[in-house]
Amino acid sequence: MFPFRANRFHSPYLLLLGSVLAVFSGLTACNKNSGNTIVVGEFASLTGKEASFGISSHEGTLMAIEEINAAGGVLGKQLELKTEDNLSKPGESANIVNKLIARDKVVAILGEVASSRSLEAAPICQQSGIPMISPASTNPKVTETGDYIFRVCFIDPFQGTVMANFAEKTLKVSKVAIFTDVKSDYSKGLAKFFKESFSKNGQLTSELDYSGGDKDFKAQLTTIKNGNPEAVFVPGYYTDVALIRIQARQLGLDVPFFGGDGWEGADLLSIGKEAVEGDYFSTHYSPEAGSPKGKAFVEAYKKRFNGKVPDAMAALGYDSAMILADAIKSAGSTEGAKIKEALTKVKDYDAVTGKITINKERNADKSAVILQVKGGAFHYLETVGP
Ligand code: PHE
Repeated sequence: MFPFRANRFHSPYLLLLGSVLAVFSGLTACNKNSGNTIVVGEFASLTGKEASFGISSHEGTLMAIEEINAAGGVLGKQLELKTEDNLSKPGESANIVNKLIARDKVVAILGEVASSRSLEAAPICQQSGIPMISPASTNPKVTETGDYIFRVCFIDPFQGTVMANFAEKTLKVSKVAIFTDVKSDYSKGLAKFFKESFSKNGQLTSELDYSGGDKDFKAQLTTIKNGNPEAVFVPGYYTDVALIRIQARQLGLDVPFFGGDGWEGADLLSIGKEAVEGDYFSTHYSPEAGSPKGKAFVEAYKKRFNGKVPDAMAALGYDSAMILADAIKSAGSTEGAKIKEALTKVKDYDAVTGKITINKERNADKSAVILQVKGGAFHYLETVGP
């Protein structure tokens, strides 16, 4: 008796609930991607410790989206950029990327600059079948996560080799110390790749660690100094590097310091001041070395952002959004699987940061540039091909 009665009571109720849900989810889908816009997600460190990275990449990304929309959008629709801030904190990227996918129904995700944060988001995008394009994360593991994960920059085995050759051939040093941030996948990876390449001909006087966000580096710097290196490689982020360099000078450690793309933040100069003068780092792009397309980007960016000169993250953010839009166009669809297929076919794309070809590992084969801090600014020294 009971099941029968229960059924009679529940069926119309369930039916009603079902139709309410169907209408609701139909409306939600309608508001998102089947309406007039195609929703693209972005996660970035807009505030917190590495805000300069996130703000730059966001500005570049936003500028690209605005240009695409002004030119008529993609597949007859405007792109809608949903940006979420991860506060530069571990754990946040996973939360906000889950939200972008589940709540906002984004068709693809752009981000992040820092490798550790891209590594948080990549497995989520991969499992959800949502293509992710990192503008600037250089640790190899990011794209190794799976076939939905791409980047528009080079990777650290290349960057490490570029700086090892630079130390040997340009700085002409054979004894180098390495100082690594143990909290950062980027720093640990770049230290390892630099070491593999440099130690073929050179000698490492010491390999020491710090923890990103530390304020006192004197104990390690004293040990580094006692090893008498001719130069010190610090594959860290600008926030820590500036303090490290100031304290190194205080200890009389005056040999050249050099690092990778993580050095590129305006705070390196505003905090490091004369302590960072003469130091070197590799990065993805220099406004001084750009192609005609690169130069036009610099002018447009300055106009859009009150005279601000774009850095590498801004340029790569711009390129990542442009390449995504191009892939959606050539896929003729906003389906993840189709966008992903189109991304694997990107070849010789004329980007602001140079020609981009997405290789089999879903990384970009590209040149690096080496910059020097001179007169309180970054100066272009040379371009090193892949
Ligand atoms: N490559 C760095 C990383 O993977 C991030 C970065 C990119 C920093 C570009 C500065 C400029 O963590």
